[in-house]
Amino acid sequence: MPGTELFGAEEKKEINDVLETGILFRYNHDAQRNNIWKAREFENEVKKLLGAKYAHAVSSGSTAVACALASAGIGAGDEVIVPPFTFIASVEAVLFVGALPVFAEIDETLCLSAKGIKAAITPKTKAVLLVHMCGGMAQMDEILAVCKEHNLTLVEDAGQAFAASYKGTSVGLMGQTGCYSFDFFKIATAGEGGVMVTNDEQTYKNADCYSDHGHSHVGNNRGMEPHPLLGFNYRIGELSAAIGLAQTRKVPFILEKNREHKKILTDILSKVPGLSFSKLPDPSGDSATFLNLFLPDTESAKRVIDEFNKAGVAGFNYWFLNMYHFINQWDHLKELKVAAKLPIHLLGAPQDYKNLHLPKSQEVVGRLISFGIRCTWTGEEVKALANKIAGCVTKAMAVQA
Ligand SMILES: Cc1ncc(COP(=O)(O)O)c(C=O)c1O
Repeated sequence: MPGTELFGAEEKKEINDVLETGILFRYNHDAQRNNIWKAREFENEVKKLLGAKYAHAVSSGSTAVACALASAGIGAGDEVIVPPFTFIASVEAVLFVGALPVFAEIDETLCLSAKGIKAAITPKTKAVLLVHMCGGMAQMDEILAVCKEHNLTLVEDAGQAFAASYKGTSVGLMGQTGCYSFDFFKIATAGEGGVMVTNDEQTYKNADCYSDHGHSHVGNNRGMEPHPLLGFNYRIGELSAAIGLAQTRKVPFILEKNREHKKILTDILSKVPGLSFSKLPDPSGDSATFLNLFLPDTESAKRVIDEFNKAGVAGFNYWFLNMYHFINQWDHLKELKVAAKLPIHLLGAPQDYKNLHLPKSQEVVGRLISFGIRCTWTGEEVKALANKIAGCVTKAMAVQA
């Protein structure tokens, strides 16, 4: 949780700016706010960091995904290809914009593969919701080629990969829209918050309207201006934006430290027989918020987790823990249980969610063990952790031999 590790005077200063004016709302009140516009500043900082033309801050990563889908024109009845390994929010966002999630296989990048996407395309497929999982990035060249060939809109959920990049472009900026989470557990936090990005002006305008009841924010008198679209309240408040702003400024430092620590870990662990790492199509663009280890198979991953538990090492496997990040834990989705019906209930599910055949994803997630990387660790702490992990893995693998 790197962002939360670095709370300090910078966050307090930004929050105090807002409290001194008392204007917690991101729009209007020009006379009272003493030129304090934290949501705008937060968006500008994100644009600068990522190289985005447009950024729009919203209330959460989940609403950023919904905003990214809706503003790209994805809605009722559209099939959207999604991964079975993501936080459930990605799938919920597809459902709640009225679209129909179609699950496809991931690969060793922990993200959807081009092959998986191709196999899931039907005449109703409108978009791919690509989730850049666990700090890294998908195999972009192949995925962009499939999207182009089949005329699919690419929406990127980079909720876990803020500031990661692929061949010099920030993840989130390779499709029509991208989004990031600033919840409490992310590389930079706003407490709760999210940001949607795009390089397309109309898509940005759609997002700006959609996230605030259709207000177009033209001129400086929100509420009295034209309302081109229906929307809803996905707004971010000035206090959250103030924290997000201070935290975004710290991201270059966080990246540097995380990458330093991940290098120490991988240098030591690459010598351990039986261990390998998740695939990074552009290692230099890794946000390095996670160390993602592969064991040869699910059985050895289980034994390693047992050794970690005995040794007090905090690695986690998404398959055995009820982490809410893998389809094996989503019984409510398989039963389509909701408080009130969605378009999917009227149109029917595009796949039999209870009996999906996703052997590659099961195999990949079954032998994956992840660690969160902290930016405040000392070099000695990182080395001690690497040696502990190595010891546990060696012990667990010896049982097999
Ligand atoms: C990939 C991904 N997308 C979306 C979200 C939702 O973000 P939030 O918790 O800010 O709503 C998360 C949160 O963990 C996530 O990991």
